[in-house]
Amino acid sequence: MKNLKCLAALMMAAILTLALPVTAFASLEDTGFSDVSADSWYAEAVVYCREHSLMFGASDTAFAPENDLTRAQLAAVLYRIAGSPAVTGRDVFTDTPDGAWYADAVLWASRQNLVSGYGGGLFGPDDPVSREQMTTILWRSAGSPAAGGNGNYSDASAISAYAATAAAWASVNGIVRPTSGSMFSPKANATRAQVADALMNYDRNVDPVITPSGGARVLVAYFSATNTTKPLAEYVADSLGADIYEIVPQTPYTSADLNYGNSSSRTTVEMNDPDARPAISGSVENMEQYDIVFIGYPIWWGQAPRIVSTFLESYDFGGKTIVPFCTSNSSGMGSSAQNLHSLTNGANWLDGQRFSGGTSRNAMVDWVNSLGLDVTAS
Ligand SMILES: Cc1cc2nc3c(=O)[nH]c(=O)nc-3n(C[C@H](O)[C@H](O)[C@H](O)COP(=O)(O)O)c2cc1C
Repeated sequence: MKNLKCLAALMMAAILTLALPVTAFASLEDTGFSDVSADSWYAEAVVYCREHSLMFGASDTAFAPENDLTRAQLAAVLYRIAGSPAVTGRDVFTDTPDGAWYADAVLWASRQNLVSGYGGGLFGPDDPVSREQMTTILWRSAGSPAAGGNGNYSDASAISAYAATAAAWASVNGIVRPTSGSMFSPKANATRAQVADALMNYDRNVDPVITPSGGARVLVAYFSATNTTKPLAEYVADSLGADIYEIVPQTPYTSADLNYGNSSSRTTVEMNDPDARPAISGSVENMEQYDIVFIGYPIWWGQAPRIVSTFLESYDFGGKTIVPFCTSNSSGMGSSAQNLHSLTNGANWLDGQRFSGGTSRNAMVDWVNSLGLDVTAS
């Protein structure tokens, strides 16, 4: 198929060269595409991508370097690079119809945790992929590594939180070049030339490469009353390219509620009652899609807050792997995870870990790596 395409392009080039003045086709001879001149900044990337079967032309003779790529098209490019492995089932999005030309690619990309959509069940297949989205998808393909340094972008504040590590990683590893100066231009659409450039750089600089593998889908769920557990949960989710869900109480905990020195405060009353189940606001969409669920919580009186019990009793965790982690002032995890375990049926609980408040991103990533989970496309 690839060879036939190349042959067709060569034949077309030969025919056109015979029919028209030679000078008009210098770029065609050099890059294989009439709209990619050999001295353009993206010529090397376009040729590299074609030669390495990473990305082909918009037609046999045109690459359309300045055109946008849609989100579905990027998924299709990565899916093809991965060898178009067989996929079964349906994706979780409501705007990717069965039988669409990109259906298998989007299903594969979502199973590999490369794409997670906009939320609300939407993927936006026909939307142009933005530079920060493209970068995040490539970063996830690499296994969502630590950034390894600072992106030093002059417009860093415009980068969405979910894309911050990816953007810094892309700069440190020379994957995505700035649009001008040190501008990352996160919300600008990624042109086909920019995508080709990023794919070339990725192919050259990143190990592991995009390969098909049976990655599991991961959710990081957490409860955090005073925002100590929250950043740790975010580090875990970032490092895995996982979805994240905050367990939000229907009735927020006030500082009076959290006063454990008061024997009649709300938390003391709840923790004294093993059957207390404080209500949660909102829920996890499509819990069935996840294979691994991290659960983070603070230690309250040596145990997990009762709202974590509410959470665990709200879903079927049968067949899932659960990884608990907690923060505390000084107590260990104690029996908190064992007691939570008894609330789920058929789940595989891994040993958990207690962390101090302020634990670094690197320490959290080290912990995640030590678990040896097969969770991403790398
Ligand atoms: C009601 C309550 C009970 C607590 N009990 C303990 C405890 O038994 N041992 C401990 O080391 N810390 C205890 N702490 C401190 C919290 O575990 C610690 O501050 C935690 O990191 C807070 O996490 P968060 O900000 O994510 O809610 C308690 C805090 C509260 C509010």
